[in-house]
Amino acid sequence: MRPLKSRHRPAENGWHESSTTVTEYALSLDLGESSVTRDETETYIIEGGQAGRDRLNLLHQVFRVGTQHLLDEIEIAPGMKCLDVGCGGGDVAKLLATKVGSDGQVVGTDADISMIELASAEAQRQGLKNIQYLQGDAYSTFCEHSFDLVYSRLLLTHLSAPEKALAAMCGSVKRGGWVVIEDMDATRIFSDPEIPAISRYLELYIGLSTSNGGDPAIGPKLPGLLRRAGVMDVEVRLVQQAGYSGPVKQNVVITAERTAQRLVQNGYIGADEMTNLLRDNHRAAVDPDILISAPLIVQAWGRIDTD
Ligand SMILES: C[S@@+](CC[C@H](N)C(=O)[O-])C[C@H]1O[C@@H](n2cnc3c(N)ncnc32)[C@H](O)[C@@H]1O
Repeated sequence: MRPLKSRHRPAENGWHESSTTVTEYALSLDLGESSVTRDETETYIIEGGQAGRDRLNLLHQVFRVGTQHLLDEIEIAPGMKCLDVGCGGGDVAKLLATKVGSDGQVVGTDADISMIELASAEAQRQGLKNIQYLQGDAYSTFCEHSFDLVYSRLLLTHLSAPEKALAAMCGSVKRGGWVVIEDMDATRIFSDPEIPAISRYLELYIGLSTSNGGDPAIGPKLPGLLRRAGVMDVEVRLVQQAGYSGPVKQNVVITAERTAQRLVQNGYIGADEMTNLLRDNHRAAVDPDILISAPLIVQAWGRIDTD
């Protein structure tokens, strides 16, 4: 895990936040104890910081409608407590915050402190008082059996042990509470007519993700993962966006840019070939006669057993 900046104090249980310890935070919410274990071996393969935030902003423009429909299906009532694990820039946490209202609480957690800082600053600027963003690892249960709903989008694909992260998430949910997961199958991205540079980038991304321990095609496996984690009455929906213009076309190009350095450094591709690939991807993204899709998104959700 990256070192914390000096103004961030490590809390005893391993969770971090800019102004309060997680213990103070848990007390303020009347949440239970949290237990933490950390995985030190994984790295996130896409650039973070402001560039990463900008990419997640674009990604949210692509996936927001599908996520909103999903959240509308679930009985999210005012006053509920929700947890968004691997929240990135905190966009879905904000959708949840609107639903739970001023009597509710939303916590967004992410391993990347720069994301937490950016998300916290945005929420403060927007005057959102019912959200808090905390740094923490998805493999750790945060505040056992304290949340009415735990949500995660596009996190498990990056993890080498998604079942462990899911178990940790389930541990945060109250009995009878919701577990709601969205993740992708990147192998289903397509272009029409087929653009060789996009197909080539997909091969590279799949290789990089897989060698990092991730699963770029985890989406269809989500329902089974949820059932094995003890989630009941699992429901499933598939969503895929495609277009001739707009954010859906830029998504694959920006993700290629944010992984380019890593791909070159790790020897997957030469610098010159990468430059050409990015140029060709960009040309395809601005060509109004080329259709490009986002990854297939699988949404899977259900409740934790009430027994
Ligand atoms: C593709 S982004 C998705 C962000 C957000 N869920 C969304 O849909 O906008 C994946 C996020 O997972 C975070 N992440 C990766 N590994 C993590 C881990 N082990 N624990 C917590 N967060 C992690 C990354 O820092 C990144 O912000």
